[in-house]
Amino acid sequence: MERKNIGVIGIGRIGEVHLCQLVQSGQVNVMYLVDIEPMHGKIRDLVKQYGLQNVKVSNTEEVTDMLSDKLNIINPLKESRNDNTLDSAKPGEWHEYFSELNKSSESHSNRIHEIRSGVEKLEKVKQFCELDFRISNKEIANSVSKLKNGKASGLDGIPAEILDAVLICSPVFGKPHKKSDLVKFALQAGKHVFCEKPIDLDPGVVEECYKLAENRGKTLQCGFDKRFDISIRKMYDKIKARDLGELRMIKLVARELPAWINAEYLKSSGGIFVDSAIHELDLICWLSGERPESAVCFGHAKSQMFKECNDVECAMIMLKFPSGLVGYIENVRGVPYGYDQRFEVLGEKGMLCIENPSTTHLQLWNQDGRLLDTIEQHGLPRFYEAYRMEKQHFIDVINGKVSCEVLPDEVIFNSKLTRYCTKSLRTGTIVNIP
Ligand SMILES: NC(=O)c1ccc[n+]([C@@H]2O[C@H](COP(=O)([O-])OP(=O)(O)OC[C@H]3O[C@@H](n4cnc5c(N)ncnc54)[C@H](O)[C@@H]3O)[C@@H](O)[C@H]2O)c1
Repeated sequence: MERKNIGVIGIGRIGEVHLCQLVQSGQVNVMYLVDIEPMHGKIRDLVKQYGLQNVKVSNTEEVTDMLSDKLNIINPLKESRNDNTLDSAKPGEWHEYFSELNKSSESHSNRIHEIRSGVEKLEKVKQFCELDFRISNKEIANSVSKLKNGKASGLDGIPAEILDAVLICSPVFGKPHKKSDLVKFALQAGKHVFCEKPIDLDPGVVEECYKLAENRGKTLQCGFDKRFDISIRKMYDKIKARDLGELRMIKLVARELPAWINAEYLKSSGGIFVDSAIHELDLICWLSGERPESAVCFGHAKSQMFKECNDVECAMIMLKFPSGLVGYIENVRGVPYGYDQRFEVLGEKGMLCIENPSTTHLQLWNQDGRLLDTIEQHGLPRFYEAYRMEKQHFIDVINGKVSCEVLPDEVIFNSKLTRYCTKSLRTGTIVNIP
């Protein structure tokens, strides 16, 4: 199978994990890395460590050009003509142009040939400097319709250079483009998108992104990695097999160390429910197969930093589901002992639970009792394997082997749910969820 070309936008904490795992998978070509600081130390190290010298490292200012394939198709053509009019480019037109082509349901290689053929036809019709980029929408539309009715020429060269998909790992309020803007650019340009949670703080915008994905016939997978954890997946399978019978209660605990959180992060995170409980809210609906009808939430900020950022470090969410199932989620930012994640589902026939794995199998037995080794200190190592499985799923989706399991409706509802929970926290009232 042809290896898909992938770009990664935002090489920070989570972007690094995704990038490393993509490279290690050996199943895709990593073609672009994009950041606001394109050669910050971490990227330089990663390029060296993984032998990515051929990967293009771009500034986020160039991101629309990258997504519209202008960088890799037009620039080399331009360079070969020694033409200097690049700054007059109108990337929007190229977005449209390539997006139209990408709507085609043809196989990847046919689509590539179409694009190559289209570029060549336009070159013949117009002077090259006009191809570069003062073509009108009408001309684009004409050439697209010609292409669709015409024959693909089957030329070599460009195919390996077209970007198929991007992983977006920048912050929700990234600069100059917020995360959902990048999602939209990529979808408009006809790319599949994996986007780290949250896609946006506004559920309306999340919905817009999914509508766009649907219109373009592309996948938008949201980064709910915990679903891909092997133990949680097994829990899900047992619930679906009705091993527990009717569900009574789900209790999810998510606590973390305070060390990495700072005021800048908190101010742009959207609050504890959008940034942290978003995962547990997704899990509770996914595991139960239900959506809650009401929520009540409490929280408290003890430290000055959380108070000033209008956020809380301890929060709990209680949910009531139509079947009578009761849900409880606890999020704490700032425990001294590690990354504490526990999952418990109680049903009429029994209970399923997942405790924190120790980092090693070592135990100390003495007169005080039995001491297990420490638990993981951070989320990235604890869920490293889940991130890998999540990405494998995305690769399988873009290769057409499976359809995306993280469904648009689920992500849109999750986004609304984080809002309702935040409202309950702020007002101290029970919130009904329509
Ligand atoms: N699913 C998970 O478990 C998980 C874990 C961590 C983070 N996240 C999410 O991923 C996102 C990133 O988090 P992080 O902790 O990696 O952040 P980070 O600050 O460590 O990294 C973000 C990177 O994006 C770059 N960036 C900022 N704006 C950009 C733009 N417009 N274009 C390109 N690059 C840009 C920054 O320079 C930085 O290198 C957040 O939304 C976060 O909620 C999810």
